Amino acid sequence: MRTMKLGSSNLDVPVVAVGCMRIDTLEKREAERFVHAALDQGANFFDHADVYGNGACEEIFAEALGMNGRTREHVLLQSKCGIREGMFDFSKGHILASVDGILKRLRTDYLDVLLLHRPDTLMEPDEVAEAFDELERSGRVLHFGVSNQTPGQIELLKKAVDQPLVVDQLQLSITNATMIERGFNVNMLNDAAVDRDGGVLDYCRLHDITIQPWSPFQYGFFDGAFLGSSVYPELNAVLDAVADRYGISTTTLVVAWLLRHPAHMQPVVGTTSVGRLRDCCAAADVRLSREDWYAIYRAAGRPLP
Ligand SMILES: NC(=O)c1ccc[n+]([C@@H]2O[C@H](COP(=O)([O-])OP(=O)(O)OC[C@H]3O[C@@H](n4cnc5c(N)ncnc54)[C@H](OP(=O)(O)O)[C@@H]3O)[C@@H](O)[C@H]2O)c1
Repeated sequence: MRTMKLGSSNLDVPVVAVGCMRIDTLEKREAERFVHAALDQGANFFDHADVYGNGACEEIFAEALGMNGRTREHVLLQSKCGIREGMFDFSKGHILASVDGILKRLRTDYLDVLLLHRPDTLMEPDEVAEAFDELERSGRVLHFGVSNQTPGQIELLKKAVDQPLVVDQLQLSITNATMIERGFNVNMLNDAAVDRDGGVLDYCRLHDITIQPWSPFQYGFFDGAFLGSSVYPELNAVLDAVADRYGISTTTLVVAWLLRHPAHMQPVVGTTSVGRLRDCCAAADVRLSREDWYAIYRAAGRPLP
């Protein structure tokens, strides 16, 4: 699998990340097969969160991998904290306690990357900084980042936090590309011009923060996969035709569309199927033409101005 540097760090990561949010839908044997199939593809970067399956996803993953000192060296582990029942919590105490729980469930003594999951308006940046310092000093976390944050929120954190923030994990797919759409409709009166994210795409490129698109196959907010969906007939027709021409599956094409963007994104795919995962990984070797990238963008129902 082709690799890239994660954000401004020196960490080499595969360009496709494996999301583990749905791994708790697999039986034990299926989970083992899935995790090892990922490794066979060179997809050794796994995305977790303490809330996935209430912690069960991390446990199932560790069990499926057969986590021990030797296997740990072959994987890159990212997890997230900060979402609690009925609230978001970036307090020092919660961050530290969450990481302890994550490490225990993943059966490891360090995370390669820790992300703050969703902005907490009650956040005190100094507390986050203290938590990050402690985690870094003790070797429990090697790199830090955020998820679902605007440039302003990242800047606020950066006022206090010394460690570089190397990732912003954000919802982005062919059918939810508001961060791209806005850049085409600057200062116009249509809805597409609305600033929903503070210009996060350009900001991340300017500051060497890797965007990790989450839910690359879903439309809406987990409404289902758009591939093959009757909600998107025109898009599916174009995807079928383009995929045919490249001799790839439409699953590969969806990931290749994200990888074609020069922001050097690292899509986090959420499939639990070994076959689909292989197709997602195959996207690392596909480069779409400008014409095809734009045709797919437009087919999702977004005319260019
Ligand atoms: N930071 C955040 O706030 C946030 C939020 C949500 C998710 N995430 C991360 O992003 C990852 C991906 O999210 P997601 O699972 O919603 O993403 P996704 O890859 O868009 O969706 C995967 C789901 O779509 C199904 N699917 C149906 N047809 C598919 C096809 N042709 N190709 C691929 N999948 C197809 C999959 O079923 P099969 O399993 O049967 O293939 C699976 O249930 C998560 O695992 C998690 O790590 C982060």
